[in-house]
Amino acid sequence: MKNPSGYSRMQITLHWVVVVLVALQYLLHEGMSDAYDVAEETGIYALSTPVIGHIAGGALILLLACWRLILRNDRGVPAAPAGEPEVFRRLSHVAHLAVYALLILLPVSGALAWGGQIEAAGEAHEALKTLFLLLILAHVGAVAVHQLVWKTGLMKRMMRAQD
Ligand code: HEM
Ligand code: HEM
Repeated sequence: MKNPSGYSRMQITLHWVVVVLVALQYLLHEGMSDAYDVAEETGIYALSTPVIGHIAGGALILLLACWRLILRNDRGVPAAPAGEPEVFRRLSHVAHLAVYALLILLPVSGALAWGGQIEAAGEAHEALKTLFLLLILAHVGAVAVHQLVWKTGLMKRMMRAQD
C-alpha cells in the first residue's frame, strides 16, 4: 500500500457523504421498522416511500464503502499522525477496518432480512446497528482526543485534500 501525505479530495468527499447518509439511516428508520413489523406479522413486504428510501440509502452506502475500499487499496491512506501513542495507532487501524466491515454487513443483513425474509438477519441488523453506533461514538471520541489532548490537528486531514 502507498503512503500518501494526506487524504485525496475524493476520499474526503466520500467520507462526509457517507456520514450524512448514515445519519439519515438512523434518523429516518421508523417507516422501515414499522413496515418490517407488519411484514413479520402478515408476510406482506410493502414498498412505501420510507422503505424505498431506507433500501436506496443503504445500497448507496454499500456502493460508496466499496469505492472507498478500492481507493484505500489503490492510493493508500496517510500514516498515523506523529504524537499518537503506538497502542492507539493499532487500535485506530482495527477500528477503521471494523467500520468498513459494518458499512458492508449492515446493508447485507438488511437486504437478507427484507429481500430474503430471513428473521435471523433482521435480528443481526438490529444488533449491528447498535454496534455501529457505539463504534461511531468511539470514532468521534478519538477525533476529539486528537484535537484537544494530543493536538495532532487530525480534523484538518479530513477537511483539506492532498491530491
Ligand atoms: C448502512 C446501511 C444501513 C443502516 C445504517 C441501517 C440502519 C437501520 C436502523 C437504525 C434500523 C432501525 C432498527 C430498530 O428498529 O431498532 C433499521 C431497520 C431495518 N433496516 Fe436498515 N440500515 C441500513 C441498510 C439497510 C438495507 C440496505 C436494508 C434492506 C435492503 C435494510 C433493511 C432494514 C429492515 C428490514 C429493518 C427493520 C428490521 C430491523 O429492525 O432490524 N437496512 N436499519
Ligand atoms: C457515520 C459516521 C462515520 C463513519 C462511518 C466514519 C468513517 C471513517 C473511516 C472509515 C475513516 C478512516 C479513513 C478512511 O479509510 O477513509 C475515518 C477517518 C476520519 N474520520 Fe470519520 N467517520 C464517521 C464520522 C466522523 C465524524 C462525525 C467525524 C468528525 C467529528 C469524523 C472525522 C474523521 C477524521 C478526522 C478522520 C481522519 C482520521 C485519520 O486521519 O487517521 N468522522 N472515518
